[in-house]
Amino acid sequence: MKKLFVQYSNIYMATCVLHYLLVAFLIAISYNIDAASAGITRHYQFDIQLKNITRLCKTKTIVTVNGKFPGPKVTAREGDNLQIKVVNHVSNNISIHWHGIRQLRSGWADGPSYVTQCPIRTGQSYVYNFTVTGQRGTLWWHAHIQWMRATVYGPLIILPKLHQSYPFPKPYKQVPIIFGEWFNADPQAVLQQALQTGGGPNASDAHTFNGLPGPLYNCSTKDTYKLMVKPGKTYLLRLINAALNDELFFTIANHTLTVVEADASYVKPFQTNIVLLGPGQTTNVLLKTKPSNPNATFYMLARPYFTSQGTIDNTTVAGILQYEPHSKSSKNLSIIKPSLPPINSTSYAANFTKMFRSLASSTFPANVPKSVDKKYFFTVGLGTNPCPKNQTCQGPTNTTKFAASINNVSFILPNKTSLLQSYFTGNVFMTDFPSAPIFPFNYTGTPPNNTMVSRGTKVVVLKYNTTVELVLQGTSILGIEAHPIHLHGFNFYVVGQGFGNFNPASDPKQYNLVDPVERNTINVPSGGWVAIRFLADNPGVWLMHCHIEIHLSWGLTMAWVVLDGDLPNQKLLPPPSDYPKC
Ligand code: C2O
Repeated sequence: MKKLFVQYSNIYMATCVLHYLLVAFLIAISYNIDAASAGITRHYQFDIQLKNITRLCKTKTIVTVNGKFPGPKVTAREGDNLQIKVVNHVSNNISIHWHGIRQLRSGWADGPSYVTQCPIRTGQSYVYNFTVTGQRGTLWWHAHIQWMRATVYGPLIILPKLHQSYPFPKPYKQVPIIFGEWFNADPQAVLQQALQTGGGPNASDAHTFNGLPGPLYNCSTKDTYKLMVKPGKTYLLRLINAALNDELFFTIANHTLTVVEADASYVKPFQTNIVLLGPGQTTNVLLKTKPSNPNATFYMLARPYFTSQGTIDNTTVAGILQYEPHSKSSKNLSIIKPSLPPINSTSYAANFTKMFRSLASSTFPANVPKSVDKKYFFTVGLGTNPCPKNQTCQGPTNTTKFAASINNVSFILPNKTSLLQSYFTGNVFMTDFPSAPIFPFNYTGTPPNNTMVSRGTKVVVLKYNTTVELVLQGTSILGIEAHPIHLHGFNFYVVGQGFGNFNPASDPKQYNLVDPVERNTINVPSGGWVAIRFLADNPGVWLMHCHIEIHLSWGLTMAWVVLDGDLPNQKLLPPPSDYPKC
């Protein structure tokens, strides 16, 4: 009897264990499914610190994240929560922007100083807490105060959810290549001098690939970015233009690139030898290597696209694409050099931009608003401010300083609080940003005699879920020039573009409402216009600006305020407890 009981109990226990294992297994599976859809939390720490660094034979102290230049790569998967603690150990104020992250309801973590937060002061810290929703691809992060982003930037890579694939062949390897601009001087001093004198800023001394200027500069051969590849493979190059002021053409000798993504949105793949990126833009390209080792090395080059008169750094950064294993004679491998379009090749820029189309598949549809609730027409371009009395300025004349504006309003950032903080606490600010130019003129024709801008802190207020159409019209004031306009908090669809003045009667008939490219930064063509549409489904205060840093410094920016919706999940979340106040 006793024995039987023992046997029975053994069987019972065995069953229990099995049952337990089964339950544990099921929990594990459902947890994994959850993890795959809901994502995980990833923690990073960014210590803002000084670092001595030598380029072009000059050693200088720069502001970095964790002593790295460029800064560390942040990686997440779609659906993940990121918590990035930024600790400021330097004397400069700092804030970090997660360029292209939608920040749904989490505008407190967007980063532009005096817009969504006050800067993080010396000795203080702030945890940027946000969830990556409905996005995957190449983005980047950068400082968003004055010109601190000259050295404080890095890649932000969002991988697809676990077990989800790319809509293109799986690459053998992925390589971020981040383009930058190197100044021998302190970039902050360059900015201060420009604002003081009213003149254009001193140009940078080099362009860089992943922080390296390469062999075409004096004393720089040892600082050359080298991409080692194997034959017969496909590489995914994640191109990011982090330069301050320069749009850049990029090419690799004897290799064709296939563009598959822009600003973390998939596009219909197309082939090109030359890619153009405005500051702020990102582009993913597939590089298919030669079937066998070609026993040569290949330059990759980047150099500006620029159509205006001002001084610009027109130098060329070179990196090297090299095949491995190297042959015995690899020391004397010939270097094959590519060519780039002329520096002012607006026709190349226009044709290239036209190639971008949304993938518009069932998995990745193009949700472009087919009808619009609100239409806006904004001019973007340069202008002037008067030179203070008793000073001689170096603007377009010695009695003027350079300025820049949208609809002739040159934006003034607040300095006692952030716009988002004011909005959230119910403090009013100017909501009368003009929806069209107050004094229309022939925007791309002979410029008006009076080029003075007005100055103010004005916003446009949008109800939740408004569909918006915005035409951005370049002007010829002080020269035509491309303006890479970046919108925080949203992606938009580029439904049309053209040269000259936008024609409201005929141009909308040509709009692409089927597969327009989805982006966060788009070039207003030099001497032309671009039309974009977006759905205002993200409550908060969102900056929109030219990503050419000197234009931003001159006031080429404005902000949209998107009100809360009625439902609980349509409201801006409350600010985090460590939110930096002024
Ligand atoms: Cu990448 Cu407001 O900027």
